[in-house]
Amino acid sequence: MISSLWNGFQLLFRPYPYFRDARTTWRAPLPGLGSVLISADPGLVAEAARHPDLVGGRAHRAMRASLGDGHLIVMCGPEHRLRSRQVRRALQAFTSDSEMAEITRQEFARTPLRRPFSVQQVAHRASLRIILRGLVGRDETALIQLSQAFQASFSSPLLLFVEKLRRDWGPWSPWGRLLRRRARLQEALLQAARCAPPGSIAARLPSETWEYELLPQLMFGHETTAATFAWSFALLYPEARRRIANGEEAFTLAYVQECMRLCPPVAQLTRMATRELCLGSHSLRPGEVVMPALPGLHHHGWSHSDQLEPGRFLQETPDPHRYCPFGLGERICPGKPMALRQLVMMLQTVLQHFDIHPLAGYQPRPVRQLFLVAPAQGTPAIRRA
Ligand code: HEM
Repeated sequence: MISSLWNGFQLLFRPYPYFRDARTTWRAPLPGLGSVLISADPGLVAEAARHPDLVGGRAHRAMRASLGDGHLIVMCGPEHRLRSRQVRRALQAFTSDSEMAEITRQEFARTPLRRPFSVQQVAHRASLRIILRGLVGRDETALIQLSQAFQASFSSPLLLFVEKLRRDWGPWSPWGRLLRRRARLQEALLQAARCAPPGSIAARLPSETWEYELLPQLMFGHETTAATFAWSFALLYPEARRRIANGEEAFTLAYVQECMRLCPPVAQLTRMATRELCLGSHSLRPGEVVMPALPGLHHHGWSHSDQLEPGRFLQETPDPHRYCPFGLGERICPGKPMALRQLVMMLQTVLQHFDIHPLAGYQPRPVRQLFLVAPAQGTPAIRRA
């Protein structure tokens, strides 16, 4: 019990050192998951990614509770494969470069001059507007507010991770409030989807999936990008600033990829055994979980692994079991192309139009934000012009 709480505490409050500094494969008891096999060994992770009896969806209990049932992330087997194809096809359509750049410019233009602000917060609103445009073709204030209200319901991570707290005792109880806000956002998205333009993500998804997919795509489609943007901004150095502002696309992409190696916004993946099986020399019982540990995978076996060297992504494509900030195998993130394009556009736009720098002396310490790891305070920065 104490050991499980201690491991849970470390996973929540020291995600990078916990997953990076320990042995490459180890077992740890974790609250709500029992004994978990955690691994930063690319061979074992490759085996886990291919194994037909290790599934993704069932391990995401907190995700099912917060976003509802029936969406891609919590599905398994043939059902998952069909929905995954539909979602991947729909996500090929995303907001145009010029729209992404314009929204980013508008949001960063609203930041105060010479007063600190959180880069992640601004990127969050920009990313929310960008995914709304892609999803349903509009990003008006009412939709933004409903989405922000739903997100504000997650003020305590305990609500997600402690099942007993998830009781609907009316609109004033934390869980009751979350459910009602979710229903309002869901309804607004369904309405917007009914008149979405033909090229939008909603229009490309079968309408019978809207009820399940619109809300998760909205949530995953901007929280992750905003946290990654905050990391990319925190880690900027003069040469990178210059090359990104000059519009060097290949370099900007390599820079973002390298930031995601050093500081992956998703620190761990989860796969659950559906029957008794062996993985390398480890045996797993049904219901037990394997956790590929991204900070460890992105650290061991890389040269100068503590240094930020975007050049490594210009020279070669890394082994996907050694570098997987977007996950692995058939569950790899369907939003990856969109997210990478968006991050390139956002970084270029901000550095070309504004003179914004992280606060002097700021150290980007990793902090857990529900499912994500972001830099402390979302990278506080100052705009000089
Ligand atoms: C920098 C931004 C992003 C990061 C770091 C990220 C990361 C991830 C990771 C690590 C997974 C788990 C994959 C696995 O278990 O192997 C995932 C899954 C997923 N992501 Fe993303 N993601 C990002 C952006 C997006 C965007 C923009 C969307 C949609 C618009 C999206 C939608 C999804 C969905 C639907 C899944 C579930 C896939 C499945 O279970 O089959 N993500 N993402």
